[in-house]
Amino acid sequence: MENMNWSDLAFGYMKTDYNVRCYYRDGKWGELEVSSSEIINIHMAATCLHYGQESFEGLKAFKGKDGKIRVFRMDENGKRMQASSRGIKMAELPVEMFEEAVRKVVKLNERFVPPYESGAALYIRPLMIGLGAQVGVKPAPEYMFMVFVTPVGPYFKGGFQLSKVCIMREFDRAAPYGTGTIKVGGNYAASLVAGEIAHSKGYAAVLYLDPKEKKYLDECGPANFFGIRGNSYITPQSHSILPSITNKSLQQLAEDMGLTVERRPVPFEEIATFDEAAECGTAAVIAPISQIDDLDENKSYVIAKDGKPGPVCEKLYHKLRGIQYGDEPDTYGWVTIIE
Ligand SMILES: Cc1ncc(COP(=O)(O)O)c(C=O)c1O
Repeated sequence: MENMNWSDLAFGYMKTDYNVRCYYRDGKWGELEVSSSEIINIHMAATCLHYGQESFEGLKAFKGKDGKIRVFRMDENGKRMQASSRGIKMAELPVEMFEEAVRKVVKLNERFVPPYESGAALYIRPLMIGLGAQVGVKPAPEYMFMVFVTPVGPYFKGGFQLSKVCIMREFDRAAPYGTGTIKVGGNYAASLVAGEIAHSKGYAAVLYLDPKEKKYLDECGPANFFGIRGNSYITPQSHSILPSITNKSLQQLAEDMGLTVERRPVPFEEIATFDEAAECGTAAVIAPISQIDDLDENKSYVIAKDGKPGPVCEKLYHKLRGIQYGDEPDTYGWVTIIE
C-alpha cells in the first residue's frame, strides 16, 4: 500500500483482501468463514430480496500514533444488530461472534488500515440477510452474516466544516412505531428521495421531524441531532430514530465536561434558541450545522451566527477523536486493540 494517497480517499468502496461470513442453518450459527470473493451467490426467492429482511452496521478501526489498531465500541454495534434482528424477525447473532468477526476481518485486512497521520480510517460494514427460497411473507429459514471493510478518507479534510440542513414535512424515513429505531435497509430506501432533493438544493441532509405530529425534532438523514444551549447538550428522544453510538458517547463526554445532558422530545421551535447544533454519527463524529432551512415555511434559522463551528462541538469532536485514535485516555473501555 506504499503508493496509496490515504488523505485523498473519499467515503466509498474499495476492494480489500478478505471478508468474513457466517451462516445460520437448522437453528444455529456455523463457523466463521474467510472469503476473498466480493460476490454473494443467493437464491432469487431469498427474503432479503423481496421482504427486506436485511440489517447492517457501520463502525471504524483507527491506527494510532503507536501503530496500534483500535476499534470503537464494537459491542454496542453487536447489540444494535441484535435489536435489528429482533425487529424484523431474523436470527440473532451472539455479540461475541460479532466481535470475533470484526477482529478477524480487520486483522486480515491490516494493510488497508490508513496511517495515523492521514486522519483516515478503516470502515467496517457488517450485514445480515435472510436466505432460503420463500414466496409467502414469512421470516427466512436461513441467514447469512458477513463483514467487509473498506478504507475511508477523513470526513473533514481541512478541519471542521459547517453545513446546512433542511426540513421538508412531506417525507418520513420511518413510521411512528415502525422500524426507525433499528438499522434496516428499508429505512434507508425510504430516505433516498428526500435525501436527493436535499442534496440537489445544496443541503448536507434532511432534518426529519417526528412522523406522528411533526412537532418534534427526530434526526438528520443518517445521523443523530444535538443542540447546545448555554450549558446544556440537548438531543431528541423519539420512537423513530436510531440510537447512535456516537451520540451516546458524546453525551457521556459532555457530562464529563460539566454540561447537563437533556435527552427528551425537542419541540421543533427550539432550534431558534440553540447556540450550536450538529449532526453526529460514525462517519463524521460531529458535523456542525450552520443553518436550518424550513422549506415548507420558507424560513431560515441561522445557528452559527459568526460563520464558525461552536466551541462545544469543537471540544467534543477533538475529545472523541482523541479517544478513537489513542491520543486520549480510554477511561470507559470503549476501545478494543486489535492484536
Ligand atoms: C439513521 C441513522 N442515525 C444515526 C446514525 C449514527 O449512528 P452511529 O453513531 O452509531 O454511527 C446512523 C449511522 O449509523 C444512522 O444511519
